[in-house]
Amino acid sequence: MAQRGNPVFVALDTTDAAEAAAWASRVAGAVGGIKLGLEFFCANGPAGIGAVMGEASGLPLFLDLKLHDIPNTVAGGVRAVCALKPRYVTIHAAGGPAMLKAAGEAARQAGGAERPKLLGVTVLTSLSEDDLDRVGFARRAMHEQVANLARLAREGGLDGVVCSPHEAASLRAAFGPDFVLMVPGVRPSWSAADDQKRVMTPAEAMRAGATHLVIGRPITKAADPAGAARRIADEIAGRNAAA
Ligand code: C5P
Repeated sequence: MAQRGNPVFVALDTTDAAEAAAWASRVAGAVGGIKLGLEFFCANGPAGIGAVMGEASGLPLFLDLKLHDIPNTVAGGVRAVCALKPRYVTIHAAGGPAMLKAAGEAARQAGGAERPKLLGVTVLTSLSEDDLDRVGFARRAMHEQVANLARLAREGGLDGVVCSPHEAASLRAAFGPDFVLMVPGVRPSWSAADDQKRVMTPAEAMRAGATHLVIGRPITKAADPAGAARRIADEIAGRNAAA
């Protein structure tokens, strides 16, 4: 059984549907949800998503497609993915107010009571301030650009944003308790940082204001993925991890 109240969405980053399904079935009892992204979706499509979720014991799906196009096209994409009943879907906040509004309307129409919650992507963590300048965003500091796009997401009716653990506290303070903060860039003290640069531990990120955590390789690449996921859940809950 999935753990109630467990905030961890495990990122199954692979194009291999069999590998993703095997990970899902191994860790389903020790995480709160499954994150599948663009790489998996491009390789395996909706049928592949369905196959993985069939191994996930009813866990919620976070479909991280980071949609960004004209309003009509994004709305069509949101309507189409509603068939997969994702709990969360990501949209680039930089797509602008009309796109965010169209996405929200599409989710309400096609998803009904089980509509997906839409999360805004603000500034990709792969971008530096110099990159922001080069792509032609206003000359704002990174944190100002993140706050600005988060505000746009909020005003556009989105349910929350994806953000780094270092942005969680200020966004929580700015947008109140009901705004979803889905936070990647998280590493337990006992795992490798991999290519993540400015990490926090799961417990620190939750204290900073995250509502959910996205954690991939510390679970999927562990010798015992379910054990690693349980250890993370124990640390978040303040229990002494049993190893
Ligand atoms: O393996 P790891 O825990 O680093 O995986 C983190 C997941 O979160 C990956 O799927 C990655 O694409 C995603 N992500 C991220 N940073 C962002 C947005 C998404 O690491 N800013």
